[in-house]
This record gives sequence, C-alpha cells and structure tokens, in this order.
Amino acid sequence: MSSLYIILGSSVLAVLLAGYFAQIYLPPPKPKVVGIDLGTTFSCVGMYHAVTGNVSVLTTQDGHKCIPSVVAILNDRILVGYEALAQAEHNPSNTLYDAKRFIGRTFSKEEIEKAQKQYSFKLKSDKFGMVSFSVVVNGSERLITPQEVGSIIIRELKQTAERNLSAPVNRAVMSVPAEFDDKQRNFTIKAGALTGLEILRVINEPTAAAMAYGLHTKSDIHNVLVVDLGGGTLDVSLLNVQGGMFLTQAMAGNNRLGGQDFNQRLLDYIRSRIKEKFKKTLVDKEDLQVLRMQVEEAKINLTYDRSAMISMQLHSFGDIDLKELISREVFEKINSDLFLKVLEPIVTVLQATELTPDEVDEIVLVGGSTRIPKVISLIADHMKKKPNTNIDPELAVVTGVSVQAGILGGMWPLTVSAVELPTRVRKIHVH
Ligand SMILES: *[C@@H]1O[C@H](CO)[C@@H](O)[C@H](O)[C@H]1NC(C)=O
Ligand SMILES: *[C@@H]1O[C@H](CO)[C@@H](O)[C@H](O)[C@H]1NC(C)=O
Ligand SMILES: *[C@@H]1O[C@H](CO)[C@@H](O)[C@H](O)[C@H]1NC(C)=O
Ligand SMILES: *[C@@H]1O[C@H](CO)[C@@H](O)[C@H](O)[C@H]1NC(C)=O
Ligand SMILES: *[C@@H]1O[C@H](CO)[C@@H](O)[C@H](O)[C@H]1NC(C)=O
Repeated sequence: MSSLYIILGSSVLAVLLAGYFAQIYLPPPKPKVVGIDLGTTFSCVGMYHAVTGNVSVLTTQDGHKCIPSVVAILNDRILVGYEALAQAEHNPSNTLYDAKRFIGRTFSKEEIEKAQKQYSFKLKSDKFGMVSFSVVVNGSERLITPQEVGSIIIRELKQTAERNLSAPVNRAVMSVPAEFDDKQRNFTIKAGALTGLEILRVINEPTAAAMAYGLHTKSDIHNVLVVDLGGGTLDVSLLNVQGGMFLTQAMAGNNRLGGQDFNQRLLDYIRSRIKEKFKKTLVDKEDLQVLRMQVEEAKINLTYDRSAMISMQLHSFGDIDLKELISREVFEKINSDLFLKVLEPIVTVLQATELTPDEVDEIVLVGGSTRIPKVISLIADHMKKKPNTNIDPELAVVTGVSVQAGILGGMWPLTVSAVELPTRVRKIHVH
C-alpha cells in the first residue's frame, strides 16, 4: 500500500512540477473558450489571456470592437453588423434588429400587433405564439427565427475570434439578461449551437459585469448593485456574492428609459430654439435626420466637454446656417426629471432586499448612458459611494463573460471559481 502512495505521491509531484515549469518556460496557452455578449443593440466577443489575466475585446474586420446586432437578408447574401446597418434605410423590410427581444418567448396576438407597429420588418407567429421574421428573398417569403438572426451575429463574432487566434473556436460562454427564463436561455444556446459552437454556460449580464471588476475574487464584498442604462431600457440588479457564488437578490427596471429619450429631449429643445430664431418649425425629414445625428454627437461630446456645438445647414430653410451652443447645464436641465427616474429602480431593489445604501459594497455601471456625468453623480449621491467606472460600460459584460470563459477554459492564474445560483426573484417594473 505504502509504495502505491509513494507512486501516487510522486506522480502528483511530477504533475505539479511540470505545471510549475510550464508556467515559467512555455509560452502562455492560447485562449480556447471565448466570451460572447449577444446584445439587443450591439454584440461583442472577447477572450481571457493566461499569465497577464487581461481580457481583450476583439476588433472586427471593419475595425470596431462591437457590431450592431443587425442582420440583412438579401437575395444573394446576408449582411451583418455595420454593413447591415448601412443599408437599413433602403431595405427596411429585410433588415432585422432587436431579435433578442423575441428569442425563446411566446407572445399574445395583441402583443404582436403592438410590437408590429414598432418594426419595419414583418412579424409572424406560429400557433404557440413564437415569433419569426418574414422576409422576401428572390420574390418569395422566407421565415427567419430570432435564434437564426442570433446565430448570424454569433457566426460573425466566432469568425472574428478565429481570425485573431488563427485557429478554430469551438466553445464559448454567453451572457443573457438576468430576467431570461429557461426557455430563453435554451434558445440563446441554440443560436450558438447553429454556428457549431458549444455553449459551456450562460451567465447573467449583471453577474458578468461584476466579474469584469473581479468582484468574485474579493472576500470583503457581498452586496453589489449593477445599474445598466442602455439606449432604451434601464435594468438594476442587486447581487449577493459569497466565495465566488453569485445570487441575484432583486431586479427592477424601466423598459421605457434610456439614451434615446435624452436625445429626444435635446432634439425637441433645438427645434424650439429653431422656431424662436427663424419663426418656422423644422419638419423636413432630411434636415431632421442630420439634426438627429448632430444631437447624438453632442450628447456624447457633453460627457467629456462642458459644451457642444450643433452646426448644420438647414436645406429646407434655404440653406441657412444653424449654430447652437449646448452647455452641459442645459442638457442636464432639459433631462433632469428623466435622470432622476434612474434612481427609482435603485430604490426599489434596496427596499426589496431591505438594504440601506451603505450596506452596498460596490456599484457597477453597464451601458453607454451610464457615461453621462449627471447620471453617475446622482447614483453616487444617492448611494453615498462612487460607482466603478474603470471599465468602458459598454464592454463590462463582454469583459466579464470572457473572464468566465477563462475560468471554464482552465486558464491560470484564474484559480478562483465563479458560479451563479438560480434565482426565483422576478423583475419589478417601474414606470
Ligand atoms: C495586461 O495587463 C497588465 C497588468 O496586469 C498591463 O500592464 C498590460 O499593459 C496589459 N497588456 C495589454 C496588452 O493590455
Ligand atoms: C436568389 O437567386 C439567385 C440567382 O438565381 C441565387 O444565386 C440565390 O442563391 C438565390 N437566393 C436564395 C436565398 O435562394
Ligand atoms: C488579436 O486581438 C488583440 C486584442 O485586440 C490584438 O492586439 C491583436 O493584434 C489581434 N491579433 C490578430 C492576429 O488579429
Ligand atoms: C432547456 O434545456 C434543458 C437541457 O436541454 C432541458 O432539460 C430543459 O427542459 C429546457 N427547458 C426549457 C424551458 O425549454
Ligand atoms: C464633438 O467633438 C468633436 C471633436 O472635438 C468635434 O469635431 C465635433 O464638432 C463635436 N460635435 C458636436 C455636435 O459638438
């Protein structure tokens, strides 16, 4: 018996030593599992690097870190990302977006009728209420399922990773909204499987964002507030972390609040200024389209600058020059009630978990609209604590999902595990 132990013992030692020397002398192994953030509006892919512990979010062929979650079905080919977006205006009925809202869900007739008004492509439901998109290819109708749209986006991300690694990629971890039920998770996995990827795990987006900041590795952190403010929706989650285990304690959100509402306020304000200056209402579609783009740019500039300048020619007013200076104060004033609404679901999750702001250890921000300085300061004031802002809020989820991919791929120095416990809590809607 004892000799068996010696053999066992020495073989264990040999493995340990081999591992030790490998770590010192061998080049770091290439990532084998990638992390995919299949978002409603943007999607990205990343990977975790052994030794440095860095995550890189991969750049697609056209030089972007994330691609729009848009797919266009043409007669002779399928476009995805920026290419699909660029032709959307000329091909509205065959350009599909927002597919994530439909994946793995059933809808009532009324819900479909209501949703149809928002979209330029045709929705069709089967007898169970599952929605497909009806497009016309070579003159005949073709039905595309939401998971097929997802798979076209995932395939593009998979190819991006394969180009980067010069090797096939077969395994991935994906993120999903915390509120997704089992069926929605299954259909997300199906979307991955359609591209030949084995989806090792799906994790909740708020959990991924917390992992991006390494909060699963810190023993003194227990309560994490994740605030996700995107283009059109606000989602707030309260997570409990214990020894690398995540449990969602409460979720609340507002499906009608986001960056596009702030843009609309700015657009309305500038139109009222135009009316004052020129005594005419701006209604021309093309002028308004240019103004919308200027408004989006001004909003982004106001994150870093104290003021932005709207500058364009109003063709419908006989090529008059419009110049309008927007200060950050004006932007904050016209949006003040909307910005305050960001606090509502935060209050709701604190009430649901019976936590006071000072019992929350960390605040994590997700989504482009959390870059707005006033949004950050309102959250900080309410919570009496500065939110984490080191990671680009639009890359927090893909970063965390890539860390999880690194853990599942057995990449050192990731020795800690991270597990998500299933939760029974439901999202509370705040309007
Ligand atoms: C990787 O992380 C290290 C710190 O851990 C940092 O110094 C280095 O610049 C990072 N490298 C890349 C390529 O991001
Ligand atoms: C549409 O027709 C073209 C030309 O006949 C053909 O090459 C293409 O494969 C067809 N597209 C589909 C989706 O069937
Ligand atoms: C892979 O991605 C990393 C991080 O974005 C980049 O630095 C590197 O140049 C890429 N390599 C290739 C071969 O594309
Ligand atoms: C999801 O997939 C798992 C594994 O394939 C299966 O056991 C489960 O019944 C599915 N759940 C739903 C709701 O589709
Ligand atoms: C935003 O900033 C850029 C770079 O400073 C500038 O070129 C652009 O004109 C600005 N746009 C607006 C609308 O303020």
